[in-house]
Amino acid sequence: MVAGKGIVTRKVALSDNLKAFIEKWQERPGNLIMILHRVQQEYRYVPREVAFEVARVLDIPLAKIYGIITFYHFFKLEKPGEINLHVCTGTACYMKGANELISKLENLLDVRAGGTTADGKFSIETVRCVGCCGLAPVLMAEDEVYGKLTTEKLQGVISHYT
Ligand code: FES
Repeated sequence: MVAGKGIVTRKVALSDNLKAFIEKWQERPGNLIMILHRVQQEYRYVPREVAFEVARVLDIPLAKIYGIITFYHFFKLEKPGEINLHVCTGTACYMKGANELISKLENLLDVRAGGTTADGKFSIETVRCVGCCGLAPVLMAEDEVYGKLTTEKLQGVISHYT
């Protein structure tokens, strides 16, 4: 256990790959963002204990890491669900009913957008334009793109992953 400013964090051993990556990037400009990307690639989010260990290895304040994680929407502080449902809320998708899709998904999965279901299976996230506006409204799950989606089709999308 590691105590810092009244918070106790479980100590974690970084993987050899991550250690090697940090070593390679340690002295380079912009290294912290690259390292955090690598952490998220490995864990799918940035666990607190890993952030703590990265701060220790780089000899920087933990607050600097959290400053970056909270500034960039890309970084996640919570572990995402096994299947991450990304609902596009870009202009085209918004105009074609993205909000209705989000409300319906929240009802079907009993979790608010930004959260993860109690069983850890699904999370709902909103994202900006994913680049296929002609298919609006769009939802992405894993590598699949579901275009011209309607609230009626959402149960079918969920069932595909259960
Ligand atoms: S706005 Fe949704 S794909 Fe472009």
